[in-house]
Amino acid sequence: MLLKQIKKKLNQDFYSILEKQGIKELRPCQEKAIKDGLLEGKNLLVCTPTASGKTLIAEIAALQSILNKKGKTVYVVPLRSLANEKFKDFKRKYDKLCRIALSIGNIDSADPYLQNYDLIITTAEKFDSLIRHHAVWLEQVGVVVFDEIHLLNDVERGPVVEILITIIKQLLKNVQILALSATIGNPEELAEWLDAELVIDNWRPVKLEKGVYFNNEIDFKK
Ligand SMILES: Nc1ncnc2c1ncn2[C@@H]1O[C@H](COP(=O)(O)OP(=O)(O)OP(=O)(O)O)[C@@H](O)[C@H]1O
Ligand SMILES: [Mg+2]
Repeated sequence: MLLKQIKKKLNQDFYSILEKQGIKELRPCQEKAIKDGLLEGKNLLVCTPTASGKTLIAEIAALQSILNKKGKTVYVVPLRSLANEKFKDFKRKYDKLCRIALSIGNIDSADPYLQNYDLIITTAEKFDSLIRHHAVWLEQVGVVVFDEIHLLNDVERGPVVEILITIIKQLLKNVQILALSATIGNPEELAEWLDAELVIDNWRPVKLEKGVYFNNEIDFKK
């Protein structure tokens, strides 16, 4: 599917920026996400290989919600370093379109200044604490993204994310939840729990080859 084919559905300033980024054709997971209701506010669990283009799916939901005045986006990542990276990347791409904040600091604060921002990048722990401090701007959230959700699924952090998602669903009745994951073993189960459509695809930018390394040589099986 070409980007042009969804031009009419997108905010035109956002569309121009995507064009300037050089995006002409949507990747398979992006096309599937659109067909599964990304632009209609559906919850999605996107389970695809690394570098297959999951972030753009979240960017489309975020920018559409923000620019159509439907609500802020909270973008949740498992690590502070990743939050920094996403913040820089989103600032570079979308600084002209919306106000972007990084909130990974002190977990004893409700950070009321975040009221003035549209796209808030944070960690699961910090988002949990913002909710517990009853941050006033929470009711203005339209989209919540959980990036690298497979990394949150360990013994220590799993419960934090489960509780977080449960609270968000109770607190924000019309929120769109997007969960982005590497390939995992039980995607159907997670999708059902999230009440999300499941987007699965095996496309990857560089083909994986299986080989045996021996005596300084790799023997690729054909
Ligand atoms: N439709 C597209 N056309 C051209 N480039 C694209 C397109 N979609 C995404 N990209 C580029 O592909 C690269 C990888 O995308 P992205 O980081 O979203 O992958 P990912 O699925 O999140 O992978 P990971 O699981 O490793 O986080 C990025 O540099 C992004 O800009
Ligand atoms: Mg990613």
